[in-house]
Amino acid sequence: MKQAIGIFDSGVGGLTVFKAIRQAFPQQDLIYFGDTARVPYGPKSPNTIIEYSVQNARFLLQQGIKTLIVACNTSSSVAIPDLSKLSNIPIIGVIDPGSEIAVRSTENKKIGVIGTEGTIRSKAYSKAIKSLEPNAQVFSLACPLFVPIVEEGWQDHPIALRIVQEYLKPMKDNDIDTLVLGCTHYPLLSHVIQEYLGEKVKLVDSANAIGEYLKKLMPAEHDAKPGKDSYFVSDNEDKFATIASRILGADLSTLKRVRLYESWFVE
Ligand code: DGL
Repeated sequence: MKQAIGIFDSGVGGLTVFKAIRQAFPQQDLIYFGDTARVPYGPKSPNTIIEYSVQNARFLLQQGIKTLIVACNTSSSVAIPDLSKLSNIPIIGVIDPGSEIAVRSTENKKIGVIGTEGTIRSKAYSKAIKSLEPNAQVFSLACPLFVPIVEEGWQDHPIALRIVQEYLKPMKDNDIDTLVLGCTHYPLLSHVIQEYLGEKVKLVDSANAIGEYLKKLMPAEHDAKPGKDSYFVSDNEDKFATIASRILGADLSTLKRVRLYESWFVE
């Protein structure tokens, strides 16, 4: 049996990461878990985010995965040290891949980072960027309304541009040349963000960043068979499936609910 790559997120947004990994590794089996019962993680405390992340990781580890990808930026920013104690398999978050690309892309060393309150409060991106480029100036900003806009499917609604303008004005004033989209949902707003900031600002999509990062770490598989996709959520299968089809551009093949108790029960 082929061992799968496990990916978890607080909900549906991590499918942007799933999609990037699927594109980079067409033959790998992928298992996705979205914690839709407890989303959003963004406003929660580090302790709660760590506790939830550990439970999500345990579920995926029980499926016998060979690599664990933490698609959620909020989890990636606080939970990696605790997750790394759970297993010897590689456990990879989105912060380092996104930060590496940002540092490679910037010319004026003024880098913006946007994310949830939890991600921004943790300063994880800012620390990772400065460890790679000590002269970088990092401007960080939480944009909590971006997640509900995307979940509502309003990324092309005029209100999206209005909210982007309101949040990102300080980024324009700070003359950044690179902006890290440090949240699973933000790549779905990249066209609006780009329209407001203009073409000279390079957007770093943390979903694509991890696809590229993994390609360097994992050998390509030479199996003719396409990889299998499995999806699990902790609640609201229908809502997940609706948003998922928007993100993936295709309907989900299988989707199962997992009950969040001491032991995991797959229904
Ligand atoms: N997945 C989260 C992240 O990337 C966004 C949604 C949430 O707040 O849970 O930070």
